[in-house]
Amino acid sequence: MKGVILAGGTGTRLRPLTKLVNKHLLPVGKHPMIHYSIRKMKDAGIHDILLVIGKQSAGMYMDFLGSGQDWGVNLTYKIQEKAGGIAEALSLADGFIQPKDKFVVILGDNLFEDPLTDYVHAYEAQDQGAMVLLKEVEEPTRYGVPHIEGNRIVSIEEKPEQPQSNFCVTGIYMYDYGVFHIIQTIEPSGRGELEITDVNNCYAEEGTLTYNILEGWWADAGTIQSLYDAGSKLLEGE
Ligand code: DAU
Repeated sequence: MKGVILAGGTGTRLRPLTKLVNKHLLPVGKHPMIHYSIRKMKDAGIHDILLVIGKQSAGMYMDFLGSGQDWGVNLTYKIQEKAGGIAEALSLADGFIQPKDKFVVILGDNLFEDPLTDYVHAYEAQDQGAMVLLKEVEEPTRYGVPHIEGNRIVSIEEKPEQPQSNFCVTGIYMYDYGVFHIIQTIEPSGRGELEITDVNNCYAEEGTLTYNILEGWWADAGTIQSLYDAGSKLLEGE
């Protein structure tokens, strides 16, 4: 399988830290944030990785990661011109991903404990559709919240005021090539972005969106507090 790491966006919630350097290059634990998603993919046997970055700090990504050789992976880069949303960033992977490929996507600000290997194998064995990884969280209003029926997700609500459960859809997704056709059909949301939740809801409506639940800790390091909490957890695990 191939991998795609999305590290565009503006990092507004981490200002002023992100005025100087892109969010995914901020230090967390012992490394810049981007190190961890690359490591997770490598450890799951994924060596061909596309990194979607914004223009901010683009040169610093090259300085730090280069070809990916020090991580034992092959990196390809694409630039997302503006923060047009997670699904827009993902659309840039068309071409790197070929029609018969299945692939894993990680949002670059997602930090977590579980190895991805078993989930990747489960998705490889899945006939069709997509898979997302869920985690029980204290503040589901910050995330996409799934409505689950049996082993399928029937819909996801993005940042609901009154969440139906304490689960969130993490930024770890597994797709087939069909995702690029779906992205072409969705419209920008109220905040002007192509939303990954709208994409996932297309699979959910088809009845082909499966899930697994992460066992270890998980954090979306998009806020100062969660950045520091994730840093402490990562240091504990070193
Ligand atoms: O972390 C999990 C959550 O991530 C999910 O529960 C939500 O359903 C999903 O929409 C997303 O929510 P966030 O509000 O946390 O997304 P955010 O805008 O912070 O973007 C997360 C990452 O996606 C960011 O670190 C880099 C990438 N991204 C984002 C945007 C908006 C891009 O590469 N390009 C973009 O234009």
